[in-house]
Amino acid sequence: MSLTAEPKTQNQLEILLDAETVARRVRELAAQISADYRGRPLRLVGILKGAWMFLADLIRHMDLEEISVDFLGVASYGRSTKSSGEARITKDLDQSIEGLEVLIVEDILDTGETFNYLQEILGARRPKSLKAVVLLDKPSRRTRPAHADYVGFTIPDAFVIGYGLDYAENYRQLPDVRVLHLPKLEGVKGK
Ligand code: PRP
Repeated sequence: MSLTAEPKTQNQLEILLDAETVARRVRELAAQISADYRGRPLRLVGILKGAWMFLADLIRHMDLEEISVDFLGVASYGRSTKSSGEARITKDLDQSIEGLEVLIVEDILDTGETFNYLQEILGARRPKSLKAVVLLDKPSRRTRPAHADYVGFTIPDAFVIGYGLDYAENYRQLPDVRVLHLPKLEGVKGK
């Protein structure tokens, strides 16, 4: 029997957080957030596209009487794996957040550029409060200070995909979080 090595041109995926680990942590975050906002109406603002799966799982485990949802589309990287260091709105909120208790729902906090941009543009809309929950936090990649109020997992500097996160718009559908190894793009930095 002869063994052949994996082709070096193929993308390699390695599970970082399996689906059950993610689901358990999402339920814990939902319980913590529900306890903190007990008796107060809450507006979740999901950041598209990456946060849609996280938000969908988070909200179904939240135990609050008044929760509403809106989405803001923000892009920072385009289709490349390299940060442009810029964020831009691709879809604005449908409704005003003035006077509301707002919780930003993000898939990943990486360089902190998007996070700071969100604080600026949403803070300027005069919400009663503005906090953030992120599923993944990569503190080693910060170019600007950023601190989320709720963090699912602190992870090392690896390019992660799945559970809403993409590489060139692919892999968002995976139920777990995986590290993507790109043999042909060594040295390229990304999420
Ligand atoms: C990702 C992620 C955050 C941002 C974090 O979005 O959803 O919004 O990058 O990176 P930063 O801390 O370096 O700014 P991305 O631009 O990849 O768009 P997507 O959510 O549509 O995939």
